Amino acid sequence: MDYDKNKRAIRIFDTTLRDGEQSPGASMNIEEKLNLARQLARLGVDTIEAGFPIASDGDFEAVKAIAQEIKNVEIAGLARANEKDIYRAYSAVKFAEKPVIHTFIATSDVHLKYKLKITRETLLEKAANMVRYAKSFVEEVEFSAEDASRTDLDFLKIVLEEVIKAGATRLNIPDTVGYATPFEFYNFIKDVKTKVKGIENIILSVHCHNDLGLGTANSLSAILAGANQIECTINGIGERAGNAALEEIVMALNVRKDIYNAETNIKTSELYRTSQLLTYTTGISVQPNKAIVGKNAFAHEAGIHQDGILKEKTTYEIMTPELVGRQSNELVLGKHSGKHAFKERLESLGYLLSEDEIDKAFIKFKALADRKKDIYDEDIDSLVAKNSKHFEKYELKYVNVVCGDTVTPLAMVKVAVDGDLKTSSEWGNGPVDAVYNSIRKITGSNCAVIGYEVKSIRGTTQAQGDVSVTIEDANIHFTGRSAHTDIVVASAKAYINCLNKHYVYNKNLENISEKECDSVYRA
Ligand code: KIV
Ligand code: ZN
Repeated sequence: MDYDKNKRAIRIFDTTLRDGEQSPGASMNIEEKLNLARQLARLGVDTIEAGFPIASDGDFEAVKAIAQEIKNVEIAGLARANEKDIYRAYSAVKFAEKPVIHTFIATSDVHLKYKLKITRETLLEKAANMVRYAKSFVEEVEFSAEDASRTDLDFLKIVLEEVIKAGATRLNIPDTVGYATPFEFYNFIKDVKTKVKGIENIILSVHCHNDLGLGTANSLSAILAGANQIECTINGIGERAGNAALEEIVMALNVRKDIYNAETNIKTSELYRTSQLLTYTTGISVQPNKAIVGKNAFAHEAGIHQDGILKEKTTYEIMTPELVGRQSNELVLGKHSGKHAFKERLESLGYLLSEDEIDKAFIKFKALADRKKDIYDEDIDSLVAKNSKHFEKYELKYVNVVCGDTVTPLAMVKVAVDGDLKTSSEWGNGPVDAVYNSIRKITGSNCAVIGYEVKSIRGTTQAQGDVSVTIEDANIHFTGRSAHTDIVVASAKAYINCLNKHYVYNKNLENISEKECDSVYRA
């Protein structure tokens, strides 16, 4: 870590892969989580909370894989305050260069009475004992007092002092239900910071949810009150209304140095790419007016604004798009670009691929360049994502649709199922519906399609259509994604992608040999 000594250092604890993944529809498989973790490391976060290892085998494997691969960044695993959870978290994070066990228990009376059904005394003992237990495995133990902002402050202080004595090196004060307001939260954190005995050498963290849209404001208030770690997520994803958005906090500190005199280790030029990668991976788009990363965040529409910007940028621009990595790096590659240029572009975008992977991606790049004149960074992202290898039970081999204003749409589809070619033709309400009916007939899938979205990468008719589709099985969602210049083909591929994820999830993982499956999926 290389902070400016004249400024306060604010640590960024990223929980996109844990709290963020708790957003409906945001579940990711191991390969997707690893990809994001690589990008989070590039972005410069101090800690990656990689998951909740006790939650499922898939979560455990993802945390372990991230701990094994990502170096120079702390890797945290979440655990409730019980031995089973803590040992499971330890078993996953122990592979990390810098492992952290993050254990939590609720401290507010409402949680004690109705959820945990325990007394304050029992809680106190449990919290201290479990921090001690975690400390027997790793040096860095973070303790979170869930629902801290609705906890009696005097009792909270006692809990915090006990867990410090038990060995906690970090204390996290979550506003679990997004109830706090900025001024109130400032006072709350100030009290903790100044009155808890032993807190001087402890990292003081906050974790603010966004139920009233105050996640970022509360986090910034906490910084002013003395917090030195912020837990946040890319694009603000997370439980319910989400968490404080990483990009908003980092840029507020950056743009308003005069107020905060603080800095993070974040490479701001990686913010936009990280946001895009998350959107691509989960299929969850940010709203166009989202601060920093939304489509319109730097667009000036009103004539009076455009006039001002042309005369002097700072009239309406408080930060440049380049600062957050949104340089209008227009056209880079096309049909005539060679492998060398393609490889360089991949590297500059942060993809570290093997020669074999580059060769495969290059073949796809050439095929795309034959269909599409201009290849943008977003196209390359989608190519590389497409290139990642999953076990594929189903593979789309052919799709043809007849449609128009005077005919009922009819699709003919060929899908290889375990290598055997199957064909089907079906009608539908529209071309995509006809294709999906055909695929359903071949695969026998009876999962409801609960989400379908098509977007144009770069917003023109020559662009690739980026389709994300979500299916549901017993309350578990699976999202598939694909991009193609033909949106019907993209739709078919996205659906096939979904069905492959669903298939792998349903199969007993032990029964799928290493050779057959290199990805494990979780809920
Ligand atoms: O919101 C919350 O309280 C949490 C804790 C587990 C830190 O996510
Ligand atoms: Zn949370």
